[in-house]
Amino acid sequence: MKNNKNTIAVIGLSFGDEGKGKITDYLAQKADLVVRFQGGNNAGHTVVHNNKKFKFHIMPSGAVLEKEVMIANGCVVDPKVLLNEMDNLRENNKEINLKLSSTAHVICPFHRILDGLEEESKTEYRVGTTKRGIGPTYADKASRYGLRIFDLTHPKILKKKLKNLYLIKKRIINCYDPDWDINFNDIYDEFKEYGEKLKPYVIDTAYYLNQAIDSGKKVIFEGAQGTLLGIDHGFYPFVTSSNSNALGICSGAGVSPKKIGTILGVIKAYTSRVGKGFVPTELKDEIGDKIRQQGNEYGTTTGRPRRVGWLDLFNIKYSVMLNGVDYIAIMLLDALEGIDPLNICIGYEMEGKALDTWPIHPEKVKKCTPIYKIFNGWKQRSREEWTEIANSGFESLPKEIKNYVNFIAEQLQTEIAMLSIGPEREDTIVLKDFF
Ligand code: IMP
Repeated sequence: MKNNKNTIAVIGLSFGDEGKGKITDYLAQKADLVVRFQGGNNAGHTVVHNNKKFKFHIMPSGAVLEKEVMIANGCVVDPKVLLNEMDNLRENNKEINLKLSSTAHVICPFHRILDGLEEESKTEYRVGTTKRGIGPTYADKASRYGLRIFDLTHPKILKKKLKNLYLIKKRIINCYDPDWDINFNDIYDEFKEYGEKLKPYVIDTAYYLNQAIDSGKKVIFEGAQGTLLGIDHGFYPFVTSSNSNALGICSGAGVSPKKIGTILGVIKAYTSRVGKGFVPTELKDEIGDKIRQQGNEYGTTTGRPRRVGWLDLFNIKYSVMLNGVDYIAIMLLDALEGIDPLNICIGYEMEGKALDTWPIHPEKVKKCTPIYKIFNGWKQRSREEWTEIANSGFESLPKEIKNYVNFIAEQLQTEIAMLSIGPEREDTIVLKDFF
């Protein structure tokens, strides 16, 4: 194996929205290639560049910096959303260096319809999806009648495969709504045009990526969602439909585990969650409201208010184990300002017994009570004061924050690489420089 020291994976260790976009954007300044390997436009990140806000859902961070970016085979792509994000970049005079996998799967209108219909029909197992068609598209992939980017860019194949998919989906949707139909020729024409526009970017991304790594290029694998939302090792069924952890990189991008150098896990200083699923540390009181407001906890994709709670190190420990985390980044420490005392969950108790490990199953987690350790909080500060602290570095942090973050690192047995105390790139304290 030739080289792996130049690759780094940025992975959410919780339920998504940990601030991976900001970290990836920071690291991307020195990177050559940023790779998305799972998920679709259910993700959302805002990148601020030269005072202009860019909101991306499928485009990897790094696109704003005109870096080479890749949407690999493990992703599901809504072509309309991707083309809109590309237009937005062009309108802002950004050069697009996109590599799009020919084997990524394509989200079609009927996937979005089915996402909504299935969710409505579920009982207490409703997931609270983003309704972007993610689950139904991955389901088609597993059922082996999904539409891939290669098909999209070959009109004759597209016609046959799209017809096949349309007929299957029509039968299913008609069970919910007997009158539903869309004109096949209209979707075909629309998708043919998407294919023509995307064709120049389509390649065998696995081959390209391996060549890039072997030649020493600096590569970032940008995780979407978080480890606890992963289909195999997350809080099933309240999860997304891909492996939103470092384990998903190998199959999702076509690289050997030996080529993934560093795993950087990202957490917030507290817990946040969109969608359903039990959150043992959830705060449904005014402290929760304060954290939501100070952390601006509203979804980038759906605008939904996020549920918030105390930091849960018990489930994060599980994520650290799964991913093999080397370093952590702790985000949004400033959002806890003015809250005193603070709690960190260090374990769960079930039926009077402390558990050894996170129980994974919602049925079990529901019965658990968090065990907390109490910490002193830190006072409210102005934006300028936070930026000044960031500029002066770790030693100038209030002792309460140092205590809080050192405890986290010690519990997780990882080193702290970055601390974020504000939305801007400058509000980051960097303790470990990668690349
Ligand atoms: P889906 O990915 O749209 O199918 O949604 C499945 C679950 O993952 C729901 O609970 C969503 O709220 C959640 N989810 C999906 N994408 C994100 C994300 O980017 N951040 C946080 N939660 C997400």
